[in-house]
Amino acid sequence: MSEAAPGPLDGGPRMVLGIMRFGTTTSEATAFALLDRWAEAGGRWLDTANCYAYWSSPSGHGGQSEQVLGRWLEANPGVRPQIAIATKVGCEAVPPEKNPAGTEGLAGPVVKQGLRDSLERMHTDYVDLYWAHRDDHVVPQGETVAAFTELVAGGSARRWGYSNAALWRVERARSIAAVSGQATPTALQLRYSYLQPRPFVRDHIHDHRFGWVDDQTLDYVDHNPEVEIWAYTPQMEGAYDRPERPINPAFDHPGSTKRLEALTRVAADLGWSRGQVVLAWMTGAPTPVAPIVGVSSLAQLEAAITATSTPLPAELQQSLDQPW
Ligand SMILES: NC(=O)c1ccc[n+]([C@@H]2O[C@H](COP(=O)([O-])OP(=O)(O)OC[C@H]3O[C@@H](n4cnc5c(N)ncnc54)[C@H](OP(=O)(O)O)[C@@H]3O)[C@@H](O)[C@H]2O)c1
Repeated sequence: MSEAAPGPLDGGPRMVLGIMRFGTTTSEATAFALLDRWAEAGGRWLDTANCYAYWSSPSGHGGQSEQVLGRWLEANPGVRPQIAIATKVGCEAVPPEKNPAGTEGLAGPVVKQGLRDSLERMHTDYVDLYWAHRDDHVVPQGETVAAFTELVAGGSARRWGYSNAALWRVERARSIAAVSGQATPTALQLRYSYLQPRPFVRDHIHDHRFGWVDDQTLDYVDHNPEVEIWAYTPQMEGAYDRPERPINPAFDHPGSTKRLEALTRVAADLGWSRGQVVLAWMTGAPTPVAPIVGVSSLAQLEAAITATSTPLPAELQQSLDQPW
């Protein structure tokens, strides 16, 4: 078995390429061009899930993103060792008679079969990171930990992590694993960007109640440096730069006014878009976070690579860290 891949903040563009829309709203031809450019630029990590993107597929099921990646890997023999793949289990839609939650959940057999199916779609025999996509409060957590541990021990997953779970649940899983000599989750995948939402706001963007990086998350990884934070939707789907995509009202509070002023100032200084500044800020913050960037064109990919390959000058970073 090869060594675990370096983390997304360890060299190269300091980001993860999110391929959620590949094979559905992003055509296969565009996806191939983006993957080609990612590999050429020395990019490493890709993030997908077994359920991507069921909401954009007439079938109501996911798998298209993994399938496109599988066809690209097949078309590019030799590229696999350079590429690190992260995929997820737990959110594929299932009928309510199978699971009243409407998603597949994290029972042991689901986690293990999920990876077998993902590997088949991606034409590979291992993933570099396997995520629990959302928490499951019905399945005993020890069962989930044991399933991920079995996959890590067998080599089909190099490591595992939790997405959209409350921090206390992650810590409990890590404790269960630590006392029983099992594989501990070493990554968290949560929503995060430069603007922070008002606490307790509930709307469509809060579909995962604890799916957010907050100050406690940052403190947690400061004291547990073996745990990485990966941030999804870091560019708020283009809302920083596209007036036709207004910023969600959940971010409408005085703190955002200050942050947007700081962001606009730094963007003007650098001649960058505000979205680019957000990506650079995140990777250079006192507690660095790896952005998972979604793109649908080569121009968007280039912009992200530039932003995550160039550390911000210290005074600009600080003006963003302390915008008050
Ligand atoms: N764990 C989870 O629950 C979860 C949830 C969501 C996402 N994710 C992961 O996170 C990844 C990224 O999520 P996301 O796509 O929501 O993140 P995002 O990076 O905030 O949004 C990507 C979208 O922003 C627009 N964009 C990108 N670059 C731009 C630029 N330079 N200028 C203007 N607009 C730009 C594009 O929209 P257009 O394509 O419309 O141009 C692009 O599709 C996904 O691929 C997935 O891997 C995980």
